Amino acid sequence: MKSTIVPKMKPAHFFCVFAAILWWLGACQRVLPGVTHQYVAQKNAVAASSMVVTPHALATRAGLEIMKQGGNAVDATIAVHFAMAVVFPRAGNLGGGGFMVIRLKNGETDALDYREKAPASAYRDMYLDSLGNVVKGLSTDGHLAAGTPGTVAGLIAAHEKYGKLAFKKLLAPAIRFAEEGFPISGAEADRLNSFQTAFLKFNTQPNPFLKDNWKAGDVLVQKELARTLRLIRDKGKAGFYAGETAGEIVAEMQSGGGIVTLDDLLHYEAKWRKPLTGKYKNYKIIAMPPSSSGGVALLQLLKMVEPYPLQQWGFQSKEAVHVMAEASRRVYADRSQYLGDSDFYPVPIDSLLNDRYLLRRMADFNPSKATSSEAVGAGNFKISLESFETEHTSVVDAEGNAVSVTTTLNSNYGCKVWVDGAGFFLNNEMDDFSVKPGIPNQFGLVGAEANAIQPHKRMLSSMTPTIVEKDGQLFMVLGTPGGSTIITTVFQVFLNVAEFGMDLEGAVNAGRFHHQWLPDLIMTERGAFNPATRQALENMGHHFQEVDRIAVIKAILKLPDGSLNGVGDFRNPDDDARGN
Ligand code: DON
Repeated sequence: MKSTIVPKMKPAHFFCVFAAILWWLGACQRVLPGVTHQYVAQKNAVAASSMVVTPHALATRAGLEIMKQGGNAVDATIAVHFAMAVVFPRAGNLGGGGFMVIRLKNGETDALDYREKAPASAYRDMYLDSLGNVVKGLSTDGHLAAGTPGTVAGLIAAHEKYGKLAFKKLLAPAIRFAEEGFPISGAEADRLNSFQTAFLKFNTQPNPFLKDNWKAGDVLVQKELARTLRLIRDKGKAGFYAGETAGEIVAEMQSGGGIVTLDDLLHYEAKWRKPLTGKYKNYKIIAMPPSSSGGVALLQLLKMVEPYPLQQWGFQSKEAVHVMAEASRRVYADRSQYLGDSDFYPVPIDSLLNDRYLLRRMADFNPSKATSSEAVGAGNFKISLESFETEHTSVVDAEGNAVSVTTTLNSNYGCKVWVDGAGFFLNNEMDDFSVKPGIPNQFGLVGAEANAIQPHKRMLSSMTPTIVEKDGQLFMVLGTPGGSTIITTVFQVFLNVAEFGMDLEGAVNAGRFHHQWLPDLIMTERGAFNPATRQALENMGHHFQEVDRIAVIKAILKLPDGSLNGVGDFRNPDDDARGN
């Protein structure tokens, strides 16, 4: 056959075929200028063996690529994390921090805390003026808002303990995206446009993010970031916390009144911690201990509502919303009083999770009347010293290892300071400390001594990367961004599946609500709450506020036939789920 066709082809045909092959190769390898790394986000996927859900399709692809090369779920997560630093610059990061919860195929669990730390010269009142008032913006915008970044140390620690592929391979997708550029999404273009003034305010040198009118499809190339990623690839921790990159971070700090020093960088360590675990009916919840408040709060919430017939009451019935909001009111009051970095403050975790304490905490719950937050306050228990203990991605690999990781710069693009030469944004995580007792941070959260600023301390987080077992088997992996609403969202999405009979997509996309003790109101997503239910709850004494959206879940559910269902949230157009 071949010999009869080929001789009949004219030179023009050969050219066309050759050009078509070149185009196809170009499209596959994404090497043509302007069309590099095209993607279309996919919200819902079912796959036989492995699944990755991230806030960006290119990051998801990076994770799958690593698993195809033989990497496990931790390898894939690391590749996703580095890729996110490139393709999702508003939250993906090298200059931030995060938490990783791991459940291995044999059921063993682990938790990694790579949260940012307060620099050595940080002090309790550093964001107050001479009269003791909070200086607006000082803990959120600009150089002084940045804590010592933890991400790179965390990813290296995760690889040293659990990685299977060579570390160098895990950075390859990120370096490619940074070096060759990728077309930004509409959502990223919108964010970039709305932060141009802030970028100009805090950055004196040109950087790739400064541009008059970003549009979807514009290609973002980040050469400086590619160089930093190569330094990390080749030198590991020293590629970030020492040498050129550290020098650039310190120079950036000095240029704008920041206080992160070379010594802070050299001494940053990620920390392995014992995950918190708790039971809800036949489920086991595996979650993050302090310096996140997420695990403690989630386990408290679940224990507080467990005695009530949620399933019988139904999704967003007035009874279910009432009891869930009342539990939240009490949990966030406890958070404000008792939660902080357990390396610095004796967080009474055992007492806070004690069954009898939680029953007592709900003793004044009135099924037909809202409690006032003023009356609630933080719970009381006798502190016994002996009892002291010390952007989301969900991944499951073909062997059944699962990773749930949430990472952040805090606000969009962190403190808006781009490290000149090194090519990444720095966090504004210092605002997660209680900068003054009782004064709310950007998420309206208040705190006290437990979360006061101290040198080297980690600021309290609400990030709640979570893994759930059902009857001893892997069941669900989930987490979300969303500041203070993270905890209540993980709580609700889990209950949507476990109690309200929803499939994962329904559970993620269902309307949400949120109560955080102060302010004393139930936040609901605009248009997503039954007006009659709202009226009934108002009659019980609840107050309401509508917001555009609450949190952005990325979750994986193990289906009864053993396959994996991954779902990204419709609330972020870039969320992406895909598997092998
Ligand atoms: O750690 C925390 O709780 C916050 N810094 C998280 C920030 C966040 O989720 C931003 N997204 N909306």
